[in-house]
Amino acid sequence: MTEKLFEPIALGALEMANRIIMAPMTRDRAGPHDVPTDLMVEYYRQRASAGLIVTEGTQPSREGKGYWRTPGIYSQEQIDGWAKVAEAVHGEGGKLVMQIMHCGRVVVADNREYDADVIAPSAIACGDKVPGPDGVPTATAIPRGLETDEMPALIQEFAQAAKNARAAGIDGVELHCASGYLVHQFLNSRSNQREDQWGGAVENRIRFPVAILQAMADAIGGNRVGFRISPGNPYNDVDVNDPEATFAPFLKAANDLGLAYVHVVDMGLEGLEALSMIRDNWSGPIITNNGLKADSANAILAAGRAEAVSFGRAFIANPDLVERIRDGVALAKPDYTKLYTGEAEGYIDYPRAGE
Ligand SMILES: Cc1cc2nc3c(=O)[nH]c(=O)nc-3n(C[C@H](O)[C@H](O)[C@H](O)COP(=O)(O)O)c2cc1C
Repeated sequence: MTEKLFEPIALGALEMANRIIMAPMTRDRAGPHDVPTDLMVEYYRQRASAGLIVTEGTQPSREGKGYWRTPGIYSQEQIDGWAKVAEAVHGEGGKLVMQIMHCGRVVVADNREYDADVIAPSAIACGDKVPGPDGVPTATAIPRGLETDEMPALIQEFAQAAKNARAAGIDGVELHCASGYLVHQFLNSRSNQREDQWGGAVENRIRFPVAILQAMADAIGGNRVGFRISPGNPYNDVDVNDPEATFAPFLKAANDLGLAYVHVVDMGLEGLEALSMIRDNWSGPIITNNGLKADSANAILAAGRAEAVSFGRAFIANPDLVERIRDGVALAKPDYTKLYTGEAEGYIDYPRAGE
């Protein structure tokens, strides 16, 4: 049973032909100056039958880059590159939003082609290792704790990124508030040990994401802005205790901004019914993700627990995932050794069913 997956829906201003969303996936195929490449144009074009594509995490500034060959959205060259991606996806009748991802302290310096500060709420290094250019896990840099008077300009960088995404013809943006990157570093009391209005009590720790979402909404309209959370996710050395105490107030505060959606990576934690917690604190559309199959995804929609679903890994080797689900065709398996090589192989060479 998959029919619910094929009901059209609008998430804010994002009108989708079906409820199958491609989840954001970093694939390390950007070119010099972090400009999207023709490989990326082709990759996203192939997957445009998704009701909505959420692009790979894209840095709003030089400081936002932590991984090798990730794209940016702060220079004209990058905007022009993304415009080709948007045109290709729209040409196939698809829609796309850009995930705005600032790595904060999760940075391996060699992954950048330039020198730039590594910034975080507090000068506390991420205890987890991160892949360097050769894929080898490497210790991260010790970040510089942000000064209070730097915060307004940092928030504006995100708003400018949203404007740039729209200038490229992209339909909207998704703020990455998950997985231990900069926004999550502010939300989390282990990585955020600030003593000003941006740290400490939960009202202060949620201030940064809410301010960014407000600024993005002012810049491009709230109905084109979504955000992604992963309550209880320990990735990148954040504390997982009591996620509801942080995320319920965050959702409540974001609820007033008229945003397009919240996208949750449901960690399936004992003691946290993530979808119920979100429904109780958020009145907008919910996209759910993590380990879903066509049947389980359809069941969540049929039960009214979410409005749309996203698939990550299934889209890697199945550019025609939507058609395969519709036709009940078996899914191909990705070659995980080719995820981050920078090459065409293992990226744009997965055939459609029957090809
Ligand atoms: C190769 C790869 C890269 C990913 N990159 C990102 C990313 O840039 N931003 C993000 O929010 N999640 C990222 N994720 C997480 C996925 O969006 C998704 O949450 C995860 O794969 C679980 O969904 P799935 O079970 O359908 O694969 C990535 C996952 C994979 C496999």
